[in-house]
Amino acid sequence: MKIAVLAGDGIGPEVVREALRVLEALDLPGLSISDGDVGAAAWRKHGHPLPPQTLDLTRLADAVLFGAVGDPACDGLERHLRPEQAILGLRAELGLFANLRPATCFAGLEHLSALKPEIAREIDLLIVRELNGDVYFGEKGIRTLDNGERQGWDMMSYSEAEVRRIAHVAFRAAQGRAGRLTSVDKANVLETSQLWREVVTDVAREYPDVALDHLYVDNAAMQLVRAPGAFDVIVTGNLFGDILSDQASMCVGSIGLLASASLGERQTQFGTFGLYEPIHGSAPDIAGQGKANPMATILSAAMMLRHSFSREADAARIERAVARALDDGFRGGDLGGSASTRQIGDAVIERL
Ligand code: NAD
Ligand code: IPM
Ligand code: MN
Repeated sequence: MKIAVLAGDGIGPEVVREALRVLEALDLPGLSISDGDVGAAAWRKHGHPLPPQTLDLTRLADAVLFGAVGDPACDGLERHLRPEQAILGLRAELGLFANLRPATCFAGLEHLSALKPEIAREIDLLIVRELNGDVYFGEKGIRTLDNGERQGWDMMSYSEAEVRRIAHVAFRAAQGRAGRLTSVDKANVLETSQLWREVVTDVAREYPDVALDHLYVDNAAMQLVRAPGAFDVIVTGNLFGDILSDQASMCVGSIGLLASASLGERQTQFGTFGLYEPIHGSAPDIAGQGKANPMATILSAAMMLRHSFSREADAARIERAVARALDDGFRGGDLGGSASTRQIGDAVIERL
């Protein structure tokens, strides 16, 4: 079971270190780990945020554990050299089009939420975010208009096939959960969303056991804080999914808690090839201070065991250990506590 570990920038290496310690504590037979450079760290060393050797490493692996990329010092670089291009490049090159971002309120920990506890308690949702298309991967540029003024532009598009394949992932996910799917778009304004809605509606005919509804993204953002418990599975495009998942993290408690799996079609002998990463970024404001909450990355490692290595029992064990560590008061600054990254890692490992 080969894992390529790309820790990246800022708090990336700090949180990945703890997730690896948790995996080591499980003492799984046949696990091999190799590290690769990515992000600003790779740009400094190799002149590129996603060097070919790093991409090769991920292609030879059965799963990728990813920390975070991003460095304010790189914000002025040409776009193709910026650290963020590494994660976008990996998602595109590895065909990882389905991003699963679960947000569940840990039992008894509803008071950690930014919402009222009685509202937070009900949260058990899964955001299925399309990851290979949308305005993220369209043509873009800054052009000069006739009057000499500059204009930035980004092309948004989705093809039928792109919508269809993510819709199938979402309907199947809903079948395995409470059987409800909400498709989020902006069909009242965007042609891209109009087509999205038509295709999702068409795919729904193959899933009569799933109840489908549609929400505009502005309303979805509102409903996510008004009554998040009403959601089961949400399927949406790349941009809306990015935003709604950060929002969902605060509904549960903190961005330091939300894990993700990015999956494509490739199967290995162990399960589905995937890339696993916390939904947060490199958090430059707290990097290097031992303040980052590693739980999102630890929970991402659990998702890796579930999806890429078919080890459901081990995944659930990690998730229970995280919940218990939280319950026992091991909380970082993001949750109003003072536990360090290492202390949180230790607490999870003890509870394993
Ligand atoms: P961010 O997610 O890095 O941080 C947002 C806020 O949340 C910050 O105040 C940060 O301190 C806090 N935070 C995030 N993760 C935390 C954790 N585990 N524990 C405690 N607090 C945590 O978002 P940002 O500040 O907008 O972006 C910083 C950099 O990260 C940018 O370069 C951005 O492009 C990049 N980024 C990368 C990824 C990725 O690698 N997948 C994701 C998001 C942002
Ligand atoms: C995320 C991040 C990335 C995204 C950035 C770093 C490109 O915000 O994984 O949520 O927008 O997808
Ligand atoms: Mn994001």
